[in-house]
Amino acid sequence: MRWFLICLAFCTAPAWAAQLTIELGATTRSYDSAQLLARTDVREIEIPADVAYKRTMRYRAVPMHALLEGVRSDDHLLFIASDGFSAHMPMSLIDNRHGSSAWLAIEDPAHPWPALPGKVVTAGPFYVVWTQPQLAGIGPERWPYQLAAIRRQAPVAERFPMLAPAATLPVDDPVRRGFAVFQANCLACHTLNGGGDARMGPDLNIPHGPTEYLGDAYLRLYLRDPQSLRRWPQARMPGFAAEVMSEGDLDALLAYLHHMTERRLPAVGKASPAQP
Ligand code: HEC
Repeated sequence: MRWFLICLAFCTAPAWAAQLTIELGATTRSYDSAQLLARTDVREIEIPADVAYKRTMRYRAVPMHALLEGVRSDDHLLFIASDGFSAHMPMSLIDNRHGSSAWLAIEDPAHPWPALPGKVVTAGPFYVVWTQPQLAGIGPERWPYQLAAIRRQAPVAERFPMLAPAATLPVDDPVRRGFAVFQANCLACHTLNGGGDARMGPDLNIPHGPTEYLGDAYLRLYLRDPQSLRRWPQARMPGFAAEVMSEGDLDALLAYLHHMTERRLPAVGKASPAQP
């Protein structure tokens, strides 16, 4: 009898109960795959160099901006995946005038996508894909998959003041550009001074910053290709090729990381880190 009751509650749930929550501040909306697939703005799109699948893919997808009505172009969004990965995206990127378009690809539970290369799971139930990504310089970190929620939020420096460089720096200081590079490429997986939402990689300033323990030359090698420094099978950090992060961006990122070692905060709940 008990089994029957449990089954009544769960077994009848349709296979497509996958939910996407969109929290825009004043309003929170929840969609399931079936609802999204039934929208009149669903299109069949082809993605020639799909980031997650590394080949050409076809999807049924909704234009991203149609789901984000009321979001201002200076707002920031957080794309949260079910595995804890979270990608920051300024709305200005989704609203870009260069011709790159963001789409929400929706996995139809009746016709699941293939498993991701080397994994047993798919990129579904929801996956952000781009047409013409090269036109606005959209990097691989802008393709969050296994999406569970999208949340509007305040600018990064406001939410996490511990990430911000010194306010006294001139507007055109390379450190400020480096902070932008850090937000675009690193914050999706790392904290710094404990600030940030993702915990996939280690903190980049506590107890020591990578400019200190790796030095600039090895850190550059590492960021371009992590496995060029040391190899191990489970490595999850991607390399950043020059098309995604130019030499100028990399210089600026290192300037930011150096600068932040002078603004280190003590680790919460731990003794002050030892200094060499
Ligand atoms: C997709 C997630 C992801 C992104 C994006 C990412 N990292 Fe990482 N990073 C990791 C993980 C996970 C590790 C732990 C080592 C591993 O598994 O590869 C790591 C390790 C590191 C290390 C530690 C190396 C060591 O052995 O001490 C440094 C330094 C680093 N990342 C810097 C960066 C910087 C700077 C950026 C942005 C340009 C960045 N990472 C972007 C996931 C990421």
